[in-house]
Amino acid sequence: MDRREFLNNISALPLIYLLPTGFSQSKTAMATGMAMDHNMSHDMAQMVTPSSSLKVVAESPLLAESALPKGSALQPLSQLANNSHAIGHFSATLTAQPVDIELVPGKQTTVWAYNQQLPGPLIEAFEGDTVEIRLINQLAQATTIHWHGLPVPADQDGGPHHAVAAGAERLYRFTLPKGSAGTYWYHPHPHGDTPEQVYRGLAGLFIVRSKDDPLTAFSEQHLAISDLRLTESAQIPDNTALDWMNGREGQFALVNGQREPVITIVGKQRLRIWNACSARYLQLHIPGMAFSLVGTDGGLLEQPVTMQEIVLAPAQRIEILVGDGQMRHTSLQALSYNREKMGGVEPEKDRTLAQLHFVAGPLPVTPQHLRKLPELGPATAHKKVEFNETMSMEGGKHQMQFLVNGKSFDMNRIDLESHLGEVEIWEVFNNSHMDHPFHLHGTQFEVLDSVLDKQTIPATYRARRDTINLRPYETVHLKTVHTQKGVWMYHCHILEHEGQGMMAQLQVK
Ligand code: C2O
Ligand code: CU
Ligand code: CU
Repeated sequence: MDRREFLNNISALPLIYLLPTGFSQSKTAMATGMAMDHNMSHDMAQMVTPSSSLKVVAESPLLAESALPKGSALQPLSQLANNSHAIGHFSATLTAQPVDIELVPGKQTTVWAYNQQLPGPLIEAFEGDTVEIRLINQLAQATTIHWHGLPVPADQDGGPHHAVAAGAERLYRFTLPKGSAGTYWYHPHPHGDTPEQVYRGLAGLFIVRSKDDPLTAFSEQHLAISDLRLTESAQIPDNTALDWMNGREGQFALVNGQREPVITIVGKQRLRIWNACSARYLQLHIPGMAFSLVGTDGGLLEQPVTMQEIVLAPAQRIEILVGDGQMRHTSLQALSYNREKMGGVEPEKDRTLAQLHFVAGPLPVTPQHLRKLPELGPATAHKKVEFNETMSMEGGKHQMQFLVNGKSFDMNRIDLESHLGEVEIWEVFNNSHMDHPFHLHGTQFEVLDSVLDKQTIPATYRARRDTINLRPYETVHLKTVHTQKGVWMYHCHILEHEGQGMMAQLQVK
C-alpha cells in the first residue's frame, strides 16, 4: 500500500493510535478522506509510529536559539595528533564517550563525543599513508567507526557487522591509496543505533592530502556543519515520531560546533565544507558573491565550476575557492530547501550559518586544470536500486517503513552481488514523495545523468562522489567500480531512515 492509498484507507479507522502529545487539531482532513499528498497532518504523524523497537519521545520545549551565544571567531577544528614518528604512518586513538560540555553559559550538556570534542577531531593524512586508529568504546552500547567515503578494506569499514561492544576496543588499519585525496568524515555505523550516536555528537572529519595538490597556494579553512537540538534544560532529547519520519533537525545548525561564527576570509581561500547533519539539507549561498566549486566528496573536479549556490545533502562535502580581495561583510546562508517533509512540517527557512568577513590578502591564480579524472571504461554490469516508503500495520499500529527495493535492511541478507573490478552502471530511483540522499560504501562513483519528469539531464561536470541526492521520483545513473572484496552497505543518508532499514548490502566477490 503506498502512502496515498494508506491515507485514503485510514479515514475509516478510529483514532485510537494518537499518542498523547500536545497536538489536537484537525482530524477533519483525515475524517473526510482528503488526499494529503505530500503533507500528512500533524495528527497523522502522531498516529503513524515508527517501529516499536525505536525510542520515541513527545516533542519537548526547546531552548531559545538566542541562549546559545553567536558571533565569535570561527575556531579551527582541533587536529588529531599523530602518535607515530614513522614516515607514512598515522596512528592515534579515538575514545567514544559521554561527556558534559558547556555550550550554553552556565549549563552542562551531556553529549557523546570522540576525545571529548564536538565535532570530533580532524584527521589529516597523505595518500600512501597507513592509518591505524584505535577505537575505545566507553559508551553504554556497541559502536563502530565508519570511514565515510574512504576506500578501506571491508572489514575495516566499520559497518554493522563489525560492532565494538560497550567497554571494548579495536584497531582500524588501512592504507590510503593514490588518487584518494579528498574530504571525508567518520561516524558510528552500528546496527540501528547510528542515528542516536550521531545526533548526540559522534562524528569527525578526515582529510586525505596529495603530494601534488594543484591548490596549495590557497590557504584553507574547514567548516564542519552539524545539527543540534537542545531542550530548555540544554539536553539532547530523543527522537520524536516526526524525526523518525523526516529525519531529525534541531534548532541549531553549527559550524565547527559554534553558532553563527565570524569567518574571516583573507584574499582568496579554499574552504572545505562538510554536511555532517543527520537530515538537514544545506542550500549554500553567499549573498553578493559567486564561488568556484573545485572538489566534491572524493576530491578535486577536473576544472573549477563557478556557482551562486549549491545544495549539500546530508553526508556530502565540497571544496570551494572564494574571495576576490575586496573588503566586504556578508554571510554564509543555508537557503530554504523544500525536501517534501511529511506531517505538515514546513520546509526550513533561510538560515544564516556564519558571518563572512572578506579582507584583502593573497589572490593566487585559480588553475583552470585541477586533475584528469580517470575514465572507468565501458560498463558491463547493471544494478537497480529503488528507495520506497510504505505504510504497514504492525502490532495494531500503522507504521511507516523506509525500504530499499521493497525490503527492510537485514544483516543476514545479501541484496546485490558485484564482481571485483567490474565497471557498473547503477540506476537509483527514488520512488517516494520526499528527497533521499543515496550513499554507497567502499568506492566513489561518477554521476552520469539524472531523470526527472521524463527529462534526462546529463551531469554538467565530472566529479567523484559517494553520496548523491534524489528528488522525489528522480532517477540517477551513476558509474562505479568496487576494487575491494567484501560486504558493503548502500543506504539513505538521512540517518533516521538508514536506522529504520532503508539500507541494503552489496557483496563484492
Ligand atoms: Cu556515512 Cu553508511 O555512511
Ligand atoms: Cu559511508
Ligand atoms: Cu531517506
